[in-house]
Amino acid sequence: MLAKVSFKKTVPKNGTQLFFQTEGYLVQGFPQSEFSGKCNQTLLVHQEEGKVLHVGVGYTSKVSNQKYRLASATATKQLLEIGIEKIYVNLFEQFEFIEAIIEGAILRDYSFELYKDAKDRHQYHLKQIVFITDKITKSVRNKAKQGLIQAQATNYTRHIGNLPGNVLYPETLSQEAKKIATQLGLKYKAWNRKALAKDGFEGIISVGKGSSQEPRFITLEYSGGDKDQKPIALVGKAITFDSGGLSLKPGQAMDEMKFDKMGGVCVLGILKAVAELKLRLNIVGCIAAAENMPSSTAYRPGDIISTYNNQTVEVLNTDAEGRIVLADALAYACQHYKPAELFDFATLTGACLVALGDQRAGIFSTEKDLLSGIQNASKSSGEKVWPLPLGDEFDESIKSDIALVQNTGGRYGGASTAASFLKQWVSPEIPWMHLDIAGPAWNTKNNILMEKGATGFAVRLIIEYLKQK
Ligand code: BES
Ligand code: MN
Ligand code: ZN
Repeated sequence: MLAKVSFKKTVPKNGTQLFFQTEGYLVQGFPQSEFSGKCNQTLLVHQEEGKVLHVGVGYTSKVSNQKYRLASATATKQLLEIGIEKIYVNLFEQFEFIEAIIEGAILRDYSFELYKDAKDRHQYHLKQIVFITDKITKSVRNKAKQGLIQAQATNYTRHIGNLPGNVLYPETLSQEAKKIATQLGLKYKAWNRKALAKDGFEGIISVGKGSSQEPRFITLEYSGGDKDQKPIALVGKAITFDSGGLSLKPGQAMDEMKFDKMGGVCVLGILKAVAELKLRLNIVGCIAAAENMPSSTAYRPGDIISTYNNQTVEVLNTDAEGRIVLADALAYACQHYKPAELFDFATLTGACLVALGDQRAGIFSTEKDLLSGIQNASKSSGEKVWPLPLGDEFDESIKSDIALVQNTGGRYGGASTAASFLKQWVSPEIPWMHLDIAGPAWNTKNNILMEKGATGFAVRLIIEYLKQK
């Protein structure tokens, strides 16, 4: 059951209250206690009228959406552990953080329990967040609703992401996209293997050739803007399982490669939120879905592929498959939609993880407006990004002797050579950004905000960016 958000003037007797406390300026003082309002510090007080949980957000001069998000997650976890599913939040003047507070609570509540034994599942789940205030405005209500939609779209993305490769493969992903499209009134189209072959998507076909599961290309269209307004295109890599193919990966942590679909799944999550928020924009999603497997029908090192726009790729390593399926998808998005802006999302390279760690996405663009827009959105959503270079030297390192490009670029700068490869399939006049989400797309440990597993990274980031348009 999904959590609800509501507003009330007073707390009923025995209702559990939550206070967000700033360091150095506590809403209620605690002379004898150790509680100072430090980030994520908590203090549970048993009063006659009910329990009160205080949670710190640090110094007022340093507060941010993310601090409130984390504090809210910390408090929610603690309250759920003692069986409290309805939380009365005392907001005081902290209205501007209402979105973050709702997101923190709802993101923390989600866990992937579909296949767990009933006795091992979390016993309690967030049912209701009630904000206590007597001066509720329309804009605050609106913000609350946005927080709810954004967090639920993120949890939806996490849930589809957490499904394993035997359950979520290209065909079932396309069924999921169709379901979302029907629910939200989006236009949906999907290509099966036959249709892909007919229309020249040889990149997606080749990567998917080794699997008994057919690949798919999926498009979703949301029309919230004027008819003549050019759309913003969102392209996602959805390798539902990446074994590496004939260039087989080592066994260690190969199970995590079910998350190699997160770029595509996040496109699905963004469209869901965009439609629910009724943004006045035209947005299209393009998802390239395939399973990368070794077999006698698999594509091979040495193969030459002619992609959607007839540019050729020499395959040197079948494990560099993401860029090959994205080549088709990017070319299609550019030709078919002539978008005003183009973003692509992909768990593309291990090199990006080596460069930036596992909490930060690499962003690649030559457009100042896109870079600053995404960096601003990132400050608000708390999803960290860092710019990495494109450049001639990387273009140079993927030149092939026998095709336009090869799919790997030597030992160094792997995240940039991959981005440089993608650039070859983007029309030069279209403002484009590539987000390599290989690091933050899933967590291998629980953290303050989320349990381990898919994170839905980039969903809230892009929604924030789009809302600011
Ligand atoms: N999906 C992987 C990248 C990846 C690896 C993401 C580990 C997250 C964690 C991608 O398809 C891949 O295998 N890339 C290769 C490219 C190489 C063969 C040029 C890589 O990064 O090793
Ligand atoms: Mn791979
Ligand atoms: Zn991959």
